[in-house]
Amino acid sequence: MTQVRYPDDKRLLVEKALQDFFPPKDNYPELIYKAMRHSLISGGKRFRPVLTLLVAETIGNELIDVMPTACAIECVHTYSLIHDDLPIIDDDEMRRGKPTCHVLFGEDIAVLAGDALFAEAFYLIANKQVVDDPAKIVKVVDELSNASGPKGMVGGQVLDIISAGKKVNLDTLKFIHSHKTGMLISASCRIGAILGGASKEELTAFSNYAEHLGLAFQVTDDILDVVGEEISLGKKPGSDERMQKATYPSILGLKRSKEIAEEAVKNAKIALQDVKKDTSSLANLADFVYCRNK
Ligand code: IPE
Ligand code: IPE
Ligand code: MG
Ligand code: MG
Ligand code: MG
Repeated sequence: MTQVRYPDDKRLLVEKALQDFFPPKDNYPELIYKAMRHSLISGGKRFRPVLTLLVAETIGNELIDVMPTACAIECVHTYSLIHDDLPIIDDDEMRRGKPTCHVLFGEDIAVLAGDALFAEAFYLIANKQVVDDPAKIVKVVDELSNASGPKGMVGGQVLDIISAGKKVNLDTLKFIHSHKTGMLISASCRIGAILGGASKEELTAFSNYAEHLGLAFQVTDDILDVVGEEISLGKKPGSDERMQKATYPSILGLKRSKEIAEEAVKNAKIALQDVKKDTSSLANLADFVYCRNK
C-alpha cells in the first residue's frame, strides 16, 4: 500500500482551536498551565479529534458544533499520555518530539497536569459548547467518561501494567488493546455521530468502523515500537520490549501483527458500507492507520 495522506486541514483546525481554548497568556499558578501546554500544544497527530470532525462532516454537521468536544477528547488523550510516560508506568522520556512532562516539570507536576487536563476536558464540554441540546451533551459526557474510566482506558492500562513480563493469552491482549486505546477512539467516532444527529443504523455502523479502527491503531502502535524511528514517531521505540509489555508483535510476531492490522483496516472500511453517505475520508483515515510511520 502506498503512503496515504493524513487530513492535515482538519488537524490544523484542531490545533488552532486548542490554542484558542488554552491561550499562552499567564495564568495562576503559571506552572500547571505551562506543564499542560507543554504536552498539549503541538506535536500530536490529533487523530481522535480529527476522527470526530470527519464523522461530523460525513453526516453533514458543522465542524464548529463538535470542536469543543473534539478538543476535550484531545485533552483526555494527552492526559493519558502524560501519565502513561511516568517512571512508574512506561518510564519514557520522549513524547511528541519533546521531553516528557515529568522530565521537564517533575513527576508531581506531571501527575497534576494530567489530572488538570482530564478536568479541563469536561469544563470545555460544559462551558464552550455551541450545541444547544442538553440531552446530546449528557450523552457526550456519558461516552467520554465511560471510555476513559475503569470500564475503558484506565481498565486497559491496568491490565497492560499487570500483564507485563507475564505469559498473556490472546483474549487478555485483545482486552488490553480495546480498552486502553480502542474505547477512546470509539468514543471519538460515536461522539461525532451523536452530535451530528446520526440515525441508530448509522451510529451502529460508525461504532463497528471505530472498533476495527482502534484495533488497527494500537496494533500499528505496537509494530512501530519495534520497527519505527524516533525522528518520525516523536517517541523512542523499544519501550515495550524494555518494559516486557504484552503486545501483538511480542505474542504473535511482526508478520502476523501486520496481517491483523491490515485485516482490521479492511473490516473498518466494510463497516462504512452501512453508512449511506460519502465515507471516503473515513476510509482514507483507516488506510492511514495501517500505513503510518508516526
Ligand atoms: C499514542 O497515541 C498512544 C496510543 C494510544 C497508541 P497517538 O499515536 O495518537 O499519539 P499522538 O497523539 O499522535 O502523540
Ligand atoms: C498507551 O499505550 C495507551 C494509553 C492509554 C496512553 P502505549 O503505552 O503503547 O502508548 P505509547 O506507545 O507510549 O504512545
Ligand atoms: Mg503504556
Ligand atoms: Mg507508553
Ligand atoms: Mg506503544
